[in-house]
Amino acid sequence: MNVIRARDYEDMSEKASQLVVDKINESNVNVLGLATGGTPVGLYKRLIKKINKGKASFSNIHTVNLDEYIGLSADDPNSYHRYMDDVLFKHINIPKSQTHLPNGDAEDVQLECLRYEALIHELGGVDLQLLGIGNNGHIGFNEPGSSFSGRTQVVELAPSTIEANARYFSDEEMVPRQAITMGIQTIIESKGILLLASGLDKAEAIQELIEGEVSESCPATVLQKHSDLTIIADEQALSLVT
Ligand code: F6R
Repeated sequence: MNVIRARDYEDMSEKASQLVVDKINESNVNVLGLATGGTPVGLYKRLIKKINKGKASFSNIHTVNLDEYIGLSADDPNSYHRYMDDVLFKHINIPKSQTHLPNGDAEDVQLECLRYEALIHELGGVDLQLLGIGNNGHIGFNEPGSSFSGRTQVVELAPSTIEANARYFSDEEMVPRQAITMGIQTIIESKGILLLASGLDKAEAIQELIEGEVSESCPATVLQKHSDLTIIADEQALSLVT
């Protein structure tokens, strides 16, 4: 595991955007796994600038997102489809047909999970997967207790995740209780992983990820086993690591 220390959120975002650009240019990233949430917004902002200055091209890249809420249509302002359009896709040159997210509005969500897993396989697997981390150590929406062998599946969100994500909704009651997420096995099959973390509220989860025992009670600890994991975290997120 390679841990890169950043000063703060801005520095983390700059370092991460440069790493993504370098990986795209150096190592044939055809399939890029994306995350949503607050953490990668600064990375996406900087990536947009770099792409539009010609530092990297997304025109041949396929993107696959980690997750989507169940019950929100793609055009719902709180869906991750909308988030990705707003923070990245509509600002860069990438054909819509090459951007993929689970369909949380599918009639048969179980079938949708199988479709999504098969799609990742057909694309040849994820070359570089971006991840954030939940306060409780979740990755994707794989909450504590999730099986390390899980594949794309329907999950119930933990109360702490619902509370953390309520900031995007007018009312906590509006936060969906379920999501489709890539499973932990799906995630760790990615050839490379880049996990970002910023702020004191991530410090415990980051300490556990770096120094804790590998255990399903903290899903992120599974990443210790990955042969190409980079963590870019700021001083605050690293403050409990010895
Ligand atoms: C997002 C995702 C989640 C977030 C995590 C951290 O696609 O899968 O695991 O990365 O909940 O969220 P933020 O960045 O909002 O703290």
